[in-house]
Amino acid sequence: MQLKGKTAIITGASSGIGADFSRALTEKGCRVYGLARRRERLDELQSRLGELFVPVVQDVNDYKGLEEWVEKTFSRKNSPDILVNNAGLGLFGAVEELSPDDWDAMIQTNLTSVFRLTRLVVPFMKQAESVHHIVNIASVAGLIGNPNISGYNASKFAIRGFSEALMKELRNDRIKVTCIYPGSIATEFFEKHGGTHPNMLQGKDVASTLVHILETPDNFLIDEITVRPLIPKPPQK
Ligand SMILES: NC(=O)c1ccc[n+]([C@@H]2O[C@H](COP(=O)([O-])OP(=O)(O)OC[C@H]3O[C@@H](n4cnc5c(N)ncnc54)[C@H](OP(=O)(O)O)[C@@H]3O)[C@@H](O)[C@H]2O)c1
Repeated sequence: MQLKGKTAIITGASSGIGADFSRALTEKGCRVYGLARRRERLDELQSRLGELFVPVVQDVNDYKGLEEWVEKTFSRKNSPDILVNNAGLGLFGAVEELSPDDWDAMIQTNLTSVFRLTRLVVPFMKQAESVHHIVNIASVAGLIGNPNISGYNASKFAIRGFSEALMKELRNDRIKVTCIYPGSIATEFFEKHGGTHPNMLQGKDVASTLVHILETPDNFLIDEITVRPLIPKPPQK
């Protein structure tokens, strides 16, 4: 896909890799609707990226608001070419200590909202003749279970299944579906989990991978991709 002149929706645009994705796509001439809850972060991003970045203050778990926003923003003539389902969070802990509210927050934000937004956007994508693309951001935690991240694992394993099913369901409608499985990335995600360290992946490099996946020729689909730090351990003190 040639990105110049295209339209993308990116959820979780206010920080981390969502902000890096927004920068990378606007630099390519793509208009980006960036969804998140923190207005000031989105406005600050727009002041850096310019008018091609359109801030949308929207909680992805507010399904009525999401539906109203899609209805008023898109039409037959203005359909989104790209959807990046990126908003997410990780709340960790031993299973008996993980609160049901934290479990629900992860399942809703990391999984249910992805289904809710995707089902609203796919009809617009199906109407168009050209190739469209849905990219879901899972995690290495969508491939490998580990102690104390059971809820996060469950939400990201589910995204893998959702993505594979969609890939097979939508390919004949010229809609590509890709699931990305990143290892640890230096973002605010780790603020609650001991902070970042220099050996983590950098958001700008994950964004380069996104651009590569989107720019592949029409009849060429990268359906899954795992990206990891080469040497994941923090430097010894
Ligand atoms: N960092 C990592 O190591 C890593 C590794 C693999 C996968 N991932 C995945 O990558 C994605 C992005 O994470 P990140 O590392 O960039 O973390 P981040 O900096 O914490 O960004 C998370 C983004 O999600 C948005 N968000 C969270 N809940 C939302 C809601 N209810 N409605 C709308 N937006 C919401 C946040 O915006 P607001 O708070 O402004 O709403 C923020 O923009 C997540 O799906 C995460 O699971 C991260």
